[in-house]
Amino acid sequence: MTETIPFNLDGTAREVRADPARDLLTVLREDLESTGTKYGCGEAQCGACTVLVDGVATRACVTPVGVVLGRDVRTIEGLEREGRLHPVQQAFLDEDALQCGYCTPGMIMGAVALLERNTSPTRAEIVRAMNPHVCRCCAYPRIVAAIESAARVMKGGAV
Ligand code: FES
Ligand code: FES
Repeated sequence: MTETIPFNLDGTAREVRADPARDLLTVLREDLESTGTKYGCGEAQCGACTVLVDGVATRACVTPVGVVLGRDVRTIEGLEREGRLHPVQQAFLDEDALQCGYCTPGMIMGAVALLERNTSPTRAEIVRAMNPHVCRCCAYPRIVAAIESAARVMKGGAV
């Protein structure tokens, strides 16, 4: 049954007419044309579809859109501010932390969630937090380096 579902998407009030059981990823990509968030596996196994729901890293492919009613959804498309990349985005570029880039939006959102709850993660904490994210290009060492670099920048107040 179709319902009107209002929520906040990247700082803007949006609403969709959708079956609340439809997955958030499809609604973002097909109904709202927010295609920065990627489809990898569709089974909560790869992390490509990671968005933040009220600040918590969430797999959009298995999240019914009805769950985000009235909540705050942040995607890779909402990170840049006034033409400036988020420090995590910038660090991924500076550290060359991507090859094909398919996993990157989800990786970056996972890293943002980590750094917003832990401003000084150890390398082990970064590895543990990012473990659910799959990079088929195996850019893992550079991804960890990028997150360490972003943490330093964010702690320095350069956001
Ligand atoms: S597409 Fe959602 S976890 Fe893989
Ligand atoms: S950069 Fe290709 S999957 Fe991660």
